[in-house]
Amino acid sequence: MGIWIINGRTAEGESIALLAENGLIADVLRGAAADEAAGRLAAAGHEVVDAGGRLVAPGLIDMHVHFREPGFEYKEDIETGSKAAVRGGFTTVACMPNTRPVLDKAETVARVAQRGKDVGLARVLPYGCITIGELGRELTDFAALKEAGAIGFTDDGVGVQEAGMMKEAMRRAAALGLPIVAHCEDNSLLAGGASFTDGAFARKHGLPGIPNESEAVHVGRDILLAEATGAHYHVCHVSTEQSARLIRLGKQSGVRVTAEVCPHHLLLSDEDIPDPNDGNWKMNPPLRSPRDVEAMIAAVEDGTIDIFVTDHAPHGAEEKSRGIERAPFGIVGLETAFPLLYTKFVATGRWSLSFVLERMTRRPAELFGLPGGRLERGAPADVTVIDLAEERTVDPAKFASKGRNTPFAGWKLRGWPVLTMTGGNIVWSELN
Ligand code: DOR
Ligand code: ZN
Ligand code: ZN
Repeated sequence: MGIWIINGRTAEGESIALLAENGLIADVLRGAAADEAAGRLAAAGHEVVDAGGRLVAPGLIDMHVHFREPGFEYKEDIETGSKAAVRGGFTTVACMPNTRPVLDKAETVARVAQRGKDVGLARVLPYGCITIGELGRELTDFAALKEAGAIGFTDDGVGVQEAGMMKEAMRRAAALGLPIVAHCEDNSLLAGGASFTDGAFARKHGLPGIPNESEAVHVGRDILLAEATGAHYHVCHVSTEQSARLIRLGKQSGVRVTAEVCPHHLLLSDEDIPDPNDGNWKMNPPLRSPRDVEAMIAAVEDGTIDIFVTDHAPHGAEEKSRGIERAPFGIVGLETAFPLLYTKFVATGRWSLSFVLERMTRRPAELFGLPGGRLERGAPADVTVIDLAEERTVDPAKFASKGRNTPFAGWKLRGWPVLTMTGGNIVWSELN
């Protein structure tokens, strides 16, 4: 027997009721039919979840998270990461391979995929490394990694420094029909040890800066390589105006380039950093200038940037308190992403709710060939119920993630997920 979710409302404001059975959506009713069914089903003794008029959306998809297992379980593991995901409304997450060991072998990729299934909260999809050890010297065995469950290839955490290596990687990925997912960073353009963008904040504090072109040079290079090889080239965490300009041009030229952006690069600039010693404002790519933030928003609006991701990057409290130079890069994001985007872009009237949801559900599913992202009969029963009215204050102490490293602590936000269903199972609920 399945579970009916009744009394829901879609992003477009229509009534919705749906039946999850055998892991799939077995029935979806909308409008008057949904209203009529709600009363009847409750009376007929079906297992019923009453969404109470709240938003019922496809399970959110995050194509960029770090779950740290194997090797750095003190920062996060697949279980705590999965809990953070489902509390944030995510039913699918794609895990970066910069674990210890890195995911450069079939057996490690397979182990992460299996561990995700055993935990059984969210769908955990591993990426495999582009190069062995993420060292940029030798390509991994892409076919073997794909066979083991890799959904794409990336050396996230570092850029692939050599153009020739990247070109061969794209050739091989294209032959297998999988994307190259790139952390864009040219090490020869980095000021050694820089922690913040090369801008007003770094100048004010006399710090070396990470220049915009260290990202954009790779974006430009790789778009040319994607054009030459026909690969699907996906740009991680776009943060600069120059990168957006190049991606726009690439799309206009017919190159298969897609891109993601994180909430923090849409909401914060280097001018918001309160204190250079607060490690919670240190991530890579760094917070850029207000001009770059405006460019990210414009790039989302004109379709240059396709999807939202978190780059959920948990670290230990002690590591993050080591001071700017020694603190590792990264902030957590799974438990704040939707409320941030909803409160700052939808509740303010800038974007519609469907616009935001589409970029967290249908679009990532389409770009990466995943089955979810839609509420329709036959689709996986991955569903999120969100309370758009409820306001809460971000309190990192309450995160399910082991990571507490967020610059958004204390922010008052609306739009909190209250129930998450993955494959027809209610994996987290605050309802009732
Ligand atoms: O901020 C970041 N954190 N950027 C990266 O590229 C890597 C990530 C991590 O693994 O912590
Ligand atoms: Zn990265
Ligand atoms: Zn990352």
